[in-house]
Amino acid sequence: MKDIVFKLIEQEKKRQCEGLELIPSENYVSSAVLQAMGSILTNKYSEGYPSFDGINEWNETEIAERVLPNYRYYGGQVNIDRIERLAIDRACRLFHADHANVQPHSGVNANEAVYFAWCKPGDKILAMSLPAGGHLTHGAPVTRSAKIYNFISYGVTPEGDIDYDELEKKALAEKPKIILVGYSAFMKIPDFKRVAKIGAKIPGCLLMADMAHVTGLIAGGVHPNPLEYGFHVMTSTTHKTLRGPRGGLILSRGKVSSPLKKPEHTLENIPTLIDRAVFPGTQGGPLEHVIAAKAVAFGEALQPEFTEYAHSVVKNAKVLADALLKHDFKLQGGGTDNHLVLIDIKSSFGIDGKTYETALDRVGLTLNANALLSDKGGAFRPSGVRLGTPAITTRGLGTKEMVILADWLHRVALLAKNPGTPDSDYDQIRSEVRELSLKFTKQGIIKL
Ligand SMILES: Cc1ncc(COP(=O)(O)O)c(C=O)c1O
Repeated sequence: MKDIVFKLIEQEKKRQCEGLELIPSENYVSSAVLQAMGSILTNKYSEGYPSFDGINEWNETEIAERVLPNYRYYGGQVNIDRIERLAIDRACRLFHADHANVQPHSGVNANEAVYFAWCKPGDKILAMSLPAGGHLTHGAPVTRSAKIYNFISYGVTPEGDIDYDELEKKALAEKPKIILVGYSAFMKIPDFKRVAKIGAKIPGCLLMADMAHVTGLIAGGVHPNPLEYGFHVMTSTTHKTLRGPRGGLILSRGKVSSPLKKPEHTLENIPTLIDRAVFPGTQGGPLEHVIAAKAVAFGEALQPEFTEYAHSVVKNAKVLADALLKHDFKLQGGGTDNHLVLIDIKSSFGIDGKTYETALDRVGLTLNANALLSDKGGAFRPSGVRLGTPAITTRGLGTKEMVILADWLHRVALLAKNPGTPDSDYDQIRSEVRELSLKFTKQGIIKL
């Protein structure tokens, strides 16, 4: 008998097809990515690394054919090495990096590995605060990182941009070991050059960008690449705008050498310090099936169609934001320059983010409640919701559909204001959402 789990997977597939994912950190992967992830590579143990010789110099056929010594702790690695080397090579080309570590199991693991590579317990890290849009790993007290390192935070201006003056003042006063630019709910384009200039005034300060949300936009050329503005390290997830499998990625600039020998603690050696911090520092056996899927996704992101996709993501987000403003939604930062929109639903329609999230679930529109600047609602009843266009753009929705979407979002906000709204009122919108969603089920990406 087939395991009941597969029935639930089918149900989830139906939910994904019949509704629209507006969560800005989600996407739909291609069937090639899915295939690599569900492959027999999951059977293999491969602690350690392939040789890095020839990466960035050889073409893909050479990488896929050569047999080289490696830095692994298990036998049988000939194919695994080639796959991981392809992933590294493609990531370096995509992001103009000297080195890529493709092994982090997630974005959190990637960030923790960089902290571990460069800092000692108690060292200072300057990062964006959680209420301003930063991620939990940027110093939220509930995290392991915050218990190990001494996080200092900067915020954003009332207009929603990074408060660069505050960042500079704190950086020069505190002399942190890391200045981190990264976020999960921030709608502007950071001024990396300005931050790099500040960092350069502090000896031994590592400039780190956590671009988990926008790597796909960087790959697609619609967002600046921090590595081209003096940043030493860029971490990311691979599953958001980049449209790969769930996982992490660390890109760096510097000298790449054998991970077997501990290098000197210099900024130049950061690639190797990071390799050693990922394995054996913070992880064990890499997930080679996921690394293969990362390689496939990086290959897709290197194609010209991905550039088109990234442009459409941003265009859709801008049109959606404009349409929402016309419906009297109040947006944090007034709009967006990337893929993400943050609605102040409390001051727009008098309901909290969780109530609105639940109401939208009833019609098949999925987003997440999110805290706003100086939010009094706490993590479970925040005043905002966060939504974005990466997944719906992958489905093929365009600017025309963004206007329809804003209309649904408005109608549901009005219904959610009244807790006694009958189910039938939601059902009408649900069937409209379903009808449109089913028109945008592309073969290979998502199909019932
Ligand atoms: C900026 C940022 N960094 C790190 C992460 C963590 O990624 P993961 O959930 O893969 O650990 C996220 C995920 O939401 C993120 O937005």
